[in-house]
Amino acid sequence: MLEFFSRSAEQTRRIGARLGGMLQAGDVICLQGNLGAGKTTFTQGLAQGWGSLDTVSSPTFILVNMYRRADGGRMFHLDGYRLDSAPEAEELDLDSMLAEGALVVEWPERLDDLIPSEHLWIGFEHIEDETRQMKFHARGIRYDGLLDGIRQSIVGGS
Ligand SMILES: Nc1ncnc2c1ncn2[C@@H]1O[C@H](COP(=O)(O)OP(=O)(O)OP(=O)(O)O)[C@@H](O)[C@H]1O
Ligand SMILES: [Mg+2]
Repeated sequence: MLEFFSRSAEQTRRIGARLGGMLQAGDVICLQGNLGAGKTTFTQGLAQGWGSLDTVSSPTFILVNMYRRADGGRMFHLDGYRLDSAPEAEELDLDSMLAEGALVVEWPERLDDLIPSEHLWIGFEHIEDETRQMKFHARGIRYDGLLDGIRQSIVGGS
């Protein structure tokens, strides 16, 4: 587990960008936290660091956004917030998304069993004003590696 306190939206984007630079197709990143905790802000950094040609927007009304990169790479951004019925969730073909790109999920707890067992789980908490606590949990070897990468970039100064 890695704990980090971000003092601004910009700093949250910067940490996201570090992780984004390491993402590959098949990676699963879960962003858990209340409304306004910083999940979409973090995703903006992720997409930027990954090299997205598209702007990140909150997918609250459309469930999944897809971002493209110049080399044809894809990133999927899913928001489970509005997902309140099981049939709707079952229509989501996460496997075909993962075959094509990385998957970032806001409100992953609403997708329950659909989330692959190996993933990086990041919990966001609004502490006060512009301070957000971020807790990173790696589930699986791939994610231990990603966590080490984030740890090093934080230690190296962000
Ligand atoms: N340290 C910080 N990290 C992230 N966001 C911050 C921080 N300080 C202030 N903010 C502000 O808090 C808000 C976070 O909103 P954001 O859309 O990222 O939340 P969210 O977790 O995606 O919420 P939702 O569940 O509604 O999708 C933004 O307005 C952002 O500018
Ligand atoms: Mg959001």
